[in-house]
Amino acid sequence: MTNFLSLSDVTDLDALIQSGRDAKANPFADQHIGKNKTIGLIFFNSSLRTRLSTQKAAQNLGLNVMIMNVGQDSWGLEMEEGVLMNGDKAEHVREAAAVIGRYCDIIGIRAFAELKDRNADYREQVMHQFAKYADVPIVNLESATRHPLQSLADCITIDEAKRVARPKVVLTWLPHFKPLPQAVANSFCEWMNARAQAGAVEFVMTHPEGYELAPEFAGNARVIYDRAEAFAGADFIYGKNWSSYTQYGQVLTQDPSWAVTMNDMALTNNGKFMHCLPVRRNLKVSDAVLDGPQSLVIEQAANREWSAQAVLKEILKRA
Ligand code: CP
Repeated sequence: MTNFLSLSDVTDLDALIQSGRDAKANPFADQHIGKNKTIGLIFFNSSLRTRLSTQKAAQNLGLNVMIMNVGQDSWGLEMEEGVLMNGDKAEHVREAAAVIGRYCDIIGIRAFAELKDRNADYREQVMHQFAKYADVPIVNLESATRHPLQSLADCITIDEAKRVARPKVVLTWLPHFKPLPQAVANSFCEWMNARAQAGAVEFVMTHPEGYELAPEFAGNARVIYDRAEAFAGADFIYGKNWSSYTQYGQVLTQDPSWAVTMNDMALTNNGKFMHCLPVRRNLKVSDAVLDGPQSLVIEQAANREWSAQAVLKEILKRA
């Protein structure tokens, strides 16, 4: 693995999931692999889990860690080529990425969708510009269209919590008043489609009409618009809000009946509830679900450390 931008950078998903589980069982087994090397974590957007779990994973592998919030700690960065830089961006990514690449052996980048222009967001300009100019491996810490470190943690969580060989996993849309990116849902769908193809899960999606994901992410996933039918017999309910892809960035409904409650969980096969966090309590999912025995959200967030460690180890092995 050189870059970790999407699932396509993973050659053996089963092995990567097992590597994360091995790291969880023995966090310091590879504590010398990153000795005298440095990772830079560059944030264009806020974070709790990604920032801390990736830092912790890097430290477990002996890496030095530098963190920078773009625009707050640094100059604002221009991404477009050939422009007259007479706006509020004082530095171009060509220089910024090249310079950070001289200080770091690996660079992690978080840059969300702006939800104004679908083509611009789905072009993934920030990731690609850093990959082009940094000359070191790039790790996606959540981009405009994907959150692969989250998806790997989700795979680890499902793998360790499943009670049957091929659990039924349901991705369900949740209500929210703000438009949110599709990145987590896109990625989860992409990774679950791969797991379904490998026979590891049965994957189903449910959402209101108008919230269909981009075809390249939805793939062959089964969409059941009847939510109760989708939840029936589920082993895992994965909740997430996303804004519309087809009517790009819009909130088409805030229907509160899509929030997950104990009544919904009662339709499942004593299923577990998952969410990437942060989550707005009682808007998207009830306190009773989050605080009850069916919730996996804390363990899922804890597994972000092991997903990051598995990915960084893979990159360091090839550095
Ligand atoms: N799930 C996740 O990426 O959390 P943060 O946005 O807090 O990093």
